[in-house]
Amino acid sequence: MGRAKKVVLAYSGGVDTSVCIPYLKQEWGVEEIITLAADLGQGDELEPVREKALKSGASESLVADVKDIFVKEYAFPAIQANALYENRYPLGTALARPLIAKILVEAAAKYGADAIAHGCTGKGNDQVRFDVSCTALNPNLKILAPAREWGMSREQTIAYGEKFGIPAPVKKSSPFSIDKNLLGRSIEAGTLEDPANEPPEEIYEMTKAIVDTPNEPEYLEIGFQKGLPTTINGTSKEPVELIEQLNKIIGNHGIGRIDMIENRLVGIKSREIYESPAMIVLINAHRDLESLTLTADVSQYKRGIEETYTKIVYNGLWYSPLKAALDAFIQQTQERVSGVVRLKLFKGNATIVGRWSDNSLYTPDLATYGAEDQFDHKAAEGFIYVWGLPTRIWAQQNK
Ligand code: ARG
Repeated sequence: MGRAKKVVLAYSGGVDTSVCIPYLKQEWGVEEIITLAADLGQGDELEPVREKALKSGASESLVADVKDIFVKEYAFPAIQANALYENRYPLGTALARPLIAKILVEAAAKYGADAIAHGCTGKGNDQVRFDVSCTALNPNLKILAPAREWGMSREQTIAYGEKFGIPAPVKKSSPFSIDKNLLGRSIEAGTLEDPANEPPEEIYEMTKAIVDTPNEPEYLEIGFQKGLPTTINGTSKEPVELIEQLNKIIGNHGIGRIDMIENRLVGIKSREIYESPAMIVLINAHRDLESLTLTADVSQYKRGIEETYTKIVYNGLWYSPLKAALDAFIQQTQERVSGVVRLKLFKGNATIVGRWSDNSLYTPDLATYGAEDQFDHKAAEGFIYVWGLPTRIWAQQNK
């Protein structure tokens, strides 16, 4: 008796997920494997990937274009939450996993599979995100993670695949581990494993090196409606198109690179390089617009919500009651977050240089230092008396 009869496998076309196919059949007695490759805007040709799965022994090879829902239902809420893990990483990889899990579970139901499989190793966050998301969506499905158990080195994995007709990678495969989608690229391993090493220029694809960026600044206006980005320089954009265009415009100025030491859920510190031009700028612009349109208490309280939201999304709890509750809070706050943020892009920096909104809470008559000032300065005196009262009493007691 095998561990499962019919399995839906998350498939990328890479060595590990390809080797999973014969491995699940030979070693774990799986009878039938359906692969599923998600198009998340990673820019790879997916037809060859689809065919490779069939050649590797899958009975059915599915490709799902989920770019639109990826942006609308995963990236956009994260922008509204100003989600930056450890204040820096805009969750490009972390946001894709719950969506992949969702389509895996849906495919399992459609094809009558009794298990889901993925090619994650036992050291990363992605295994947690897949396993917990799948369990949340269908607790009856088994989850198989062969690469977590097989204990083969890269060379052994390739050799195992060759035994079952899976060709070794033609080009010498990159020493880096790269995950990419519309939201950005996550790069690990190779020379990056020494945190002291400067990342080599060749790892970047979405962002130019500063020496190659334009010598003139470029202005960019991003319009938001209820916390969602909708326009670039006054022109309406569909969500996917908006992200694609912003990646180009912003990456062209060398903006969006992150080099950080990150704390993984599994307790390991890892050196991570990200490039995520659109997301970083969108989050900064969105937060700026919130500062214009939200009251001080909502704005400040939301910071704590954002931190919790970001952590649980990073830690694989996308489908959880806490996440749902935080979503409700965040949605409520976005009602008035509409307006435009103007940025100046130049040599690796996106500087916010202006913002305006019909819902602005900024009150010129109160803020001005000019003659038009409407603020009641006398009222401040009484306010300070009351505000400072506990401090005065304490100081008198303590002298
Ligand atoms: N550390 C990041 C995260 O947990 C990126 C993971 C990248 N995954 C990869 N297979 N290279 O979200």
